[in-house]
Amino acid sequence: MFATLFLLATAVAASAAGITHVPANRFTFINMPTPLGLPCDLAVGPDGYVYTNYLLASKVARINPKTNEVTEFDIPYTTPLAPNSSLPTAGGVAFAPCVVRAGQDGNMYIATGLRNQLAKLDLKTFKVSVYTPPNALQPVGNLQLLNDMWGGPKDMFLSQSSANVIQAFNYKTHKFRTYQVPTPESNPFGMVYASDNALWFTETLGQKIGRLNVTSGEIQEFPVPVPTIDTPAVLRVETGGDMLWFTCFVSDSIGGINMNTHKFTNVPNTAPASALSVPSVDTLDRHGNIWFSTWTQNLLSYFKPGSTKQTHIAIPQTLVETPISLPFAMNVGIQYYGKEGKNRMYFTQSILNRVGYLDLEGSE
Ligand SMILES: *[C@@H]1O[C@H](CO)[C@@H](O)[C@H](O)[C@H]1NC(C)=O
Ligand SMILES: *[C@@H]1O[C@H](CO)[C@@H](O)[C@H](O)[C@H]1NC(C)=O
Repeated sequence: MFATLFLLATAVAASAAGITHVPANRFTFINMPTPLGLPCDLAVGPDGYVYTNYLLASKVARINPKTNEVTEFDIPYTTPLAPNSSLPTAGGVAFAPCVVRAGQDGNMYIATGLRNQLAKLDLKTFKVSVYTPPNALQPVGNLQLLNDMWGGPKDMFLSQSSANVIQAFNYKTHKFRTYQVPTPESNPFGMVYASDNALWFTETLGQKIGRLNVTSGEIQEFPVPVPTIDTPAVLRVETGGDMLWFTCFVSDSIGGINMNTHKFTNVPNTAPASALSVPSVDTLDRHGNIWFSTWTQNLLSYFKPGSTKQTHIAIPQTLVETPISLPFAMNVGIQYYGKEGKNRMYFTQSILNRVGYLDLEGSE
């Protein structure tokens, strides 16, 4: 409690510069065991561990939140033509995925980037299986690392950005269903299975938010008000039972859509000189704050919906904070962690090959 007040007080004191500095000992950094692996996305597993995937290594890593110990699991190298091969990967094949998500079947799922396959880490056996979607042979499946996944009640949903489809992988049957996005070349990307039992997703190039009825297959699309909201990207936060929030690459903002009225809200990033910061991923803490990472600025930013106040916490060991932070870290993954009596904000700094976390209340 006192620590929370201290954090708020610090925010006020530093508001002239627009960047908040908290004591560096509230940050912990975990260097990843695979050199040049480049950790990217983050997720909390049903087992209370924190998972990260690598941009440049076919592995998924799990971090023990009590000891910070890291364990890695190899993702077998298979291709659509040789689905059962498990060639050694030499630990560094550049497939450029940036997705790890928890399935509601108790397992973790990992995207494989250009390979365009779905990997599953079974949390009982720690075996990794690789599944090939039906159209994976299309060369245009996932030409960039911009795709995402979300664990629904029965299926793991995934976007194939350049193939312009959403797919559902059934946990039990291991079969894929494919949904074509109506707008051509829309680049479907971030997604969340929302409280209205529909899958909502962003269309980064189509400049729309989509809603997929997973039973009927019907897709509704809602155009975002460009340029106020431009290039909707990662959508991972729902608040108040009716609002969904997503990062916007070009408008340097967090956009919101009301699920009932389909009205948009835009919250511009107020960090100094942030025009090229590229808000990347969002996550919700237990106090209802929406946090977001920025690709080029080494900051952890948050706001509460409805409030005009925004806080931008500097990640330590940054020499230059703005407009592009140095060292250039590539901050993409950000994930709230509220298990095991902890209250932490985890984040990745890919280029620095590390995962960090901020003790939010200074109580550890
Ligand atoms: C891959 O292995 C599965 C399970 O052992 C088998 O059913 C399938 O036929 C194999 N596929 C190929 C192409 O060898
Ligand atoms: C999906 O569509 C069906 C058929 O139109 C409808 O009955 C159902 O309520 C819809 N579900 C959602 C979550 O919108």
